[in-house]
Amino acid sequence: MTLFEMSGQVLERAVEKLSLTSLVLATSVFTLTVGYLGKLMFKQQHAGHAKYPPHIPSSVPFLGHAVAFGRSPIEFLEQAYEKYGPVVSFTMVGKTFTYLLGSDTAALMFNSKNEDLNAEDVYARLTTPVFGKGVAYDVPNPLFLEQKKMLKTGLNIAHFKKHVEVIEEETHEYFKRWGRSGERDLFEALSELIILTASRCLHGPEIRSMLDERVAQLYADLDGGFTHAAWLLPGWLPLPSFRRRDRAHIEIKKIFYKVIKKRRDAQEKDDDMLQTLVDATYKDGRPLSDDEIAGMLIGLLLAGQHTSSTTSAWMGFFLARDRALQKRCYNEQKTICGEDLPPLHYDQLKDLSLLDRCLKETLRLRPPIMTMMRMAKTPQTVGEYTIPPGHQVCVSPTVNHRLQDTWSDRLEFNPDRYLNDNPAAGEKFAYIPFGAGRHRCIGENFAYVQIKTIWSTLLRLFDFELVDGNFPEVNYTTMIHTPTEPIIVEKKKF
Ligand code: HEM
Repeated sequence: MTLFEMSGQVLERAVEKLSLTSLVLATSVFTLTVGYLGKLMFKQQHAGHAKYPPHIPSSVPFLGHAVAFGRSPIEFLEQAYEKYGPVVSFTMVGKTFTYLLGSDTAALMFNSKNEDLNAEDVYARLTTPVFGKGVAYDVPNPLFLEQKKMLKTGLNIAHFKKHVEVIEEETHEYFKRWGRSGERDLFEALSELIILTASRCLHGPEIRSMLDERVAQLYADLDGGFTHAAWLLPGWLPLPSFRRRDRAHIEIKKIFYKVIKKRRDAQEKDDDMLQTLVDATYKDGRPLSDDEIAGMLIGLLLAGQHTSSTTSAWMGFFLARDRALQKRCYNEQKTICGEDLPPLHYDQLKDLSLLDRCLKETLRLRPPIMTMMRMAKTPQTVGEYTIPPGHQVCVSPTVNHRLQDTWSDRLEFNPDRYLNDNPAAGEKFAYIPFGAGRHRCIGENFAYVQIKTIWSTLLRLFDFELVDGNFPEVNYTTMIHTPTEPIIVEKKKF
């Protein structure tokens, strides 16, 4: 082992043990030495008479507000909104972040062109090592939009009808391991289940059948690329997690290449997402290469993995906290599907409107992606302010979803709020768990099918309660805000 590799291991071990706050601190010291002095030399000049957004002052040089933000980002942003209004800038780790808070100012991000507010500049360093080259944020946005269109073709109703059956079957199989009653880690269970269901629905039966413990570990190593460390530390560092991620990327692609080749060689065509990609062509007639298909398959799985498992877990805790609501959801299963609860059908799934509203309300209070980010490439005007190039422009669904001015009883979990008129009518970007504009999520319908099918099955199998009435806190140290101590009490229904 070289000295370089050894120092990488030491740094990584330190990073793994640190909370976000300490990680930011440690990283800052490192980055300070490498880049800060250089950056200072190129510091932007404020040009002309442009009025810049209010900047929250900080007495901590370079680190700025990283510690306060890392500890409680939502509280930090809500206080900033109260004090400074809907456009506010602050510094963290030498970077300036400008948040557009509330529906009106968020419009700037969602209506912008990618050349002006750029996604690749902020996301590619995380996603390209995981998905690979030639897809998503590694390619110019018009090409990624073509790839999104191909994926959308595969996310159609005919496929969803088959997915419902498959997801119900996988859920039954997975939860056989839970006993008659006990305390269980709901988040862990749903994370494991969602890899299985997503792999079967989005990758196809061949790849799902290879998903054993070794492959699950490869996914976990690949997923280990989505960390604060990967976002903050330079990609060339010899960190063990970076090396595990890169090895897993190669191994998983090898598996996918074999399956893609078989599909290309087969006499008869299947009818699923993989087949859609094998048959897809760009506007200029070029088919996708094996490497592009493999990268898109990885992207499909991971884009939905944490988002859907976190949302499903939070929904479980909301239902466990409100036993009467849980009962109403169970009764709805009987009313819509039949007293003896036969296997689910896609058409019934649509009619499970209370379950639908519970999911919608979960996504309001716990949207898994708490911040969408872009790099300002050109000056951007919002209200009376000009955001200069170089700022990281952000919109937070979590903040928009609970603004006092927009939502009544804003912190209450109340799925019935959607029964009456749209509570946020007229505010286009007040509810944005799936984003909006050119970067909008293509997985919304699939996520609804997946989560509603899983919860329909779970409501039929179990009753749920909180452990000693404790509702989990939000864990802000992970990139997606997961429940802390996600333990739930289950009792088999029959
Ligand atoms: C509860 C589940 C999910 C939530 C809350 C969610 C949320 C989001 C959000 C907020 C964005 C916009 C990101 C931005 O503007 O920076 C996004 C984009 C995207 N999502 Fe999802 N997502 C979910 C599930 C899925 C699934 C299941 C898939 C795939 C099947 C998927 C694929 C994508 C893709 C391809 C993009 C486009 C990124 C871009 O154009 O830049 N998502 N998602």
